[in-house]
Order: sequence, then structure tokens, then C-alpha cells
Amino acid sequence: MAIAMETVDQFTRAAIGASLIVSHLLCAAPANAANVEQGRRLASLYCAQCHAIDKVSPSPLTIAPPFRALHERYPVENLQEALAEGIVVGHPTMPQFRFEPDQIGDFLAFLKSLE
Ligand code: HEC
Repeated sequence: MAIAMETVDQFTRAAIGASLIVSHLLCAAPANAANVEQGRRLASLYCAQCHAIDKVSPSPLTIAPPFRALHERYPVENLQEALAEGIVVGHPTMPQFRFEPDQIGDFLAFLKSLE
């Protein structure tokens, strides 16, 4: 009896361990890979009331450059630091934004998709 319990216990622990590893992998994969859709969602949440975030529309706020035009001025990777430290440059009318590293990857991937 004691032996049987021990066996069940080990099996249970192995099963729990395996499912933890699987769920960890399922969570980690999308977070690590830059995700264009996630970046687009960030842009539409935080930026779209002023900036055009698609390939054709004018910006809702005329003086805000459409995001598709940013790469004509500089490589969009240059924004990485500004996004991490809090983007303030040229934004007198808007709150300061600061993105998490994951969000920055997603956002830059999204900007790249507009080029
Ligand atoms: C309330 C309006 C508003 C919102 C919201 C807004 N912006 Fe802007 N943004 C502006 C304006 C206006 C400019 C142009 C400022 C200028 O040219 O002096 C600008 C310019 C920029 C520039 C160009 C800066 C440069 O010097 O080349 C970037 C990059 C930018 N915004 C990123 C963002 C991002 C990312 C978001 C969302 C997280 C965002 N903005 C949200 C109004 C806004």
C-alpha cells in the first residue's frame, strides 16, 4: 500500500511538473517574440487619437506625423530609447508615455510593418 501511494505521488508530481513547463512555454513564446498585432493594439490605445496608425489615413491631429512617415526621418529603432525612458520630445499636449521592453519590441515591429 505504501509503495502504491508513493508511485501515485511520483506520477502526480511528474504530471504537474510537465504541465507547468508546458504552460510556461505557452506563456513565454508570445511575450518574447515581437508581435505586430500587439504593437498595433498599443498604438490604437495610446497614440491613435493624434497619429495615423495605418498606411493611408491622415493623422487625426494634423501636426502629429503619421506613424508610417517616421521611418522617412530616422530608423524607427532610434525610438527604442525614447520609448523606454518616456517619450516627451515634441509632445507638449500629451501625457508622457513609457513602454515596457516587451511593448517596445511589439511597437517597433508594428512600425516596421508600415514601411
Ligand atoms: C495628444 C496627441 C498625441 C498623442 C496621444 C501621441 N502623440 Fe506623438 N506626437 C504628437 C504631436 C503633436 C507630434 C508632433 C510634435 C512636433 O512635431 O513638434 C508628435 C510626434 C511624435 C513623434 C515624432 C517625434 C520626432 O521628433 O520625430 C513620435 C515618434 C511620436 N509622436 C510617438 C508617439 C507615440 C509612440 C504615441 C503613443 C504612445 C504618441 N506619439 C501619442 C501628438 C500626440
